[in-house]
Amino acid sequence: MNALLQRNRPPLAALVLLVLAAIAFVVGGVDHARLFHRGYAQVEVVGPLFLLNALGTLVVVLLLLDRRIRLFLGGVLSISLGSIVSILISHSSSFFGFAEGGYDTDATLILAAEIASVVLVLAAVAAGALRQTAPVSDTGPAAHRPGPLQLGLGVAVVLVLGLPIAGVATGRAPKNDPTPTGAQLAASKAAIKNGNAMVQEGKHLFEAHHCDTCHAIAATGAKGILGPRMDAQSDTAEEIGINITKPRVDIAEGFGAKLMPTDYASKMNGTQIKHLSAFIRAASTTGRKDGGTG
Ligand code: HEC
Repeated sequence: MNALLQRNRPPLAALVLLVLAAIAFVVGGVDHARLFHRGYAQVEVVGPLFLLNALGTLVVVLLLLDRRIRLFLGGVLSISLGSIVSILISHSSSFFGFAEGGYDTDATLILAAEIASVVLVLAAVAAGALRQTAPVSDTGPAAHRPGPLQLGLGVAVVLVLGLPIAGVATGRAPKNDPTPTGAQLAASKAAIKNGNAMVQEGKHLFEAHHCDTCHAIAATGAKGILGPRMDAQSDTAEEIGINITKPRVDIAEGFGAKLMPTDYASKMNGTQIKHLSAFIRAASTTGRKDGGTG
C-alpha cells in the first residue's frame, strides 16, 4: 500500500510522457461529462458511468500533480481500458441492453483519446516513470505543501473537468421537439385517461420497456431526451408501430441514428406493439388522431 501511495520524481522524458498521457486522458473525461449532460444521464447503468468516468479522471489527474505516479498509472489504465472495452462492446452488440452508436464523432474522439492515454502511460513506464531520480520526502510539512506550479495546474484541471461535470458548457442536448403547451398537455392527459384498454396497456408497456429513459411525454412525466418527444408525434399508430419494430428504416432528423434499440420486435408481440402505438398516438397532441385510440 505504501509503495502504491509513494511519491515519485521520474526522469524528464517520463514526466513529459506522463503529462501528455494526462492531457489525452482529460480530453476523454471532458467528453464523457459533456455526453452525460447531453442525454446519457437518462440512460440506466451506462449514464452514471459517464459521470463516474469524468469524476475519476479528475481525481486521477490530481494524483499525478501530487506526484503519486503509481496511482496515476493505475487510474489511467483502469479507467481508460474499462471505457475502451465498453465502447467497443457497445458498438458491436449491446452494452447492458443499450445499443449505442449515435454519437459517432464523440465515440471516436473518446476512443482515440483513451487509447492515446494508455499508450503514453505505457511509454512513460518504459521511459522510467517509476524510477526515482531524487528521493521525495514523504514526511515533514514541506512534503504536503504544493508549489505554485502544482497549485496552478491543479486549479486548471479542476476547472477544465469540473465545469463540464457540473453541466456548464456541455453543448446542447440533442434537438428535441418543443414541450407541449398547457392546452396540449391537458388534451394529452385526458386522451390517456379516457383511452381504451389498448391505451392503458400501452402506457404500462412504455414504462416496462424503459422507453421513458429516452423519450419524453409531459402528461406521464417521462423525461428522456435522447430521442424525439412521444407526445408530439404526427405519425399514424401504424407508422409508429413500424418505427418501434424497425427503427433504422426511418431516422428522425436531429437524433442519434443508432440509439433506438432494435430488439423490441423480439421482446413484444404484434398486439403489444399495437397497444404501445395506440398509447403514443393518444399521448400525442399534434397531427392525426386515427389508428385505434378509441
Ligand atoms: C436508448 C434510447 C431509446 C430507447 C430506450 C427507446 N428509443 Fe425510441 N428512439 C430513440 C432515438 C434516438 C430515436 C430517433 C432516431 C430514430 O428515428 O431511430 C427514436 C425514435 C423513436 C420513434 C420514431 C419517432 C419519430 O419521430 O420518427 C418512435 C415511435 C420510438 N422511438 C418509440 C420508442 C418506444 C415505444 C420505445 C420503448 C419500447 C423506445 N422508443 C425506446 C431512442 C430510444
